[in-house]
Amino acid sequence: MNIDWSKLTFHYTETDYIVRAACKNGVWERPYATRDKMIPIHAAATGLHYGQECFEGLKAFRGVDGKVRIFRMKENAKRMYHSAEGLLMTPVPVELFCEAILLALEKNIDFLPPYGTGATLYFRPLLVATTPDISVGPGKDCEFVVVPTPIGPYFPNGFKGMPAIVNRTIDRAAPQGTGCWKVGGNYAASFRASEAAHAMGYECMFTDAKTHKYIDECTASNFIAIKQRSDLTFEYLTPRSTAILPSITNDSLMTLAREMGMKVTRRHIRVEELADIQEAAACGTACVISPLTKVVDPDKNITYSFGDKPGPVLTKLYHALQDIQYGRTEDKHGWCLVVE
Ligand SMILES: Cc1ncc(COP(=O)(O)O)c(C=O)c1O
Repeated sequence: MNIDWSKLTFHYTETDYIVRAACKNGVWERPYATRDKMIPIHAAATGLHYGQECFEGLKAFRGVDGKVRIFRMKENAKRMYHSAEGLLMTPVPVELFCEAILLALEKNIDFLPPYGTGATLYFRPLLVATTPDISVGPGKDCEFVVVPTPIGPYFPNGFKGMPAIVNRTIDRAAPQGTGCWKVGGNYAASFRASEAAHAMGYECMFTDAKTHKYIDECTASNFIAIKQRSDLTFEYLTPRSTAILPSITNDSLMTLAREMGMKVTRRHIRVEELADIQEAAACGTACVISPLTKVVDPDKNITYSFGDKPGPVLTKLYHALQDIQYGRTEDKHGWCLVVE
């Protein structure tokens, strides 16, 4: 194998095996590893025609002590369970999900990047409805696949910062729709907005689809902000919205922020409130924390600037989370499954 770990980006690099398990008539088969990366699927499968599919994303890290750590795997398993329920699919049992991830890790261990490279082994679990049916309705049979790939940073600038632009013209997800689940349709629906933002040199800041007043998400990541209060303590702010994905990274950062003595608030955040915020970022498994240098609001002709370098509070949170993921500090919450 000849991989330059330092050159990896957030793109697919083929590994030796994927892991598969099918569900027929409500009964799951045991997951198995295969070198064949093609999954045969009926041309009339409801997953292909009606978008009945959901997915996940989680990482394994090679720690400072040489051990492998999988971060909060059960939380991803539970989230996929909810996504499947949301699309009336047969959910993957949490135990089966975890068994498949562990098998994918074991079979592709040579693809786990070494400690110190900044690269990780990413797992992309996918659940797709395979029932052949042209009538519009949910299929019950499905295929569960875990696709592993070694990856580098999600945003090319990594922890260095990036600009974002407020989008009020193309909605990603409806307030009472599928935005809270990790389903492919949300991403397809977001492409026009994110590609338009990229073409202008920005990441896309989605606003709520009902009023376009409040911040929803930043590209395929949650939005977080740090606000200094009048008593000089810090507040960790993140949007409350039914249209955004409940990020496991955000949940972890909220816990760490509380432990650092910050007030943590999840509420509607108006775009104009960015004027009172000192630090802002996108967060997620892929990017961890990606600070925003500025947010441009093209409709109001205002630019909110946060400085060219990551701020001190986000930097502290970033290191606190990565220290746990790489085994450099005690994992008090038991977030990592350590595999020897
Ligand atoms: C739309 C969206 N929001 C937020 C996130 C961040 O979630 P997590 O921290 O669980 O990766 C992701 C990535 O999974 C995402 O695709």
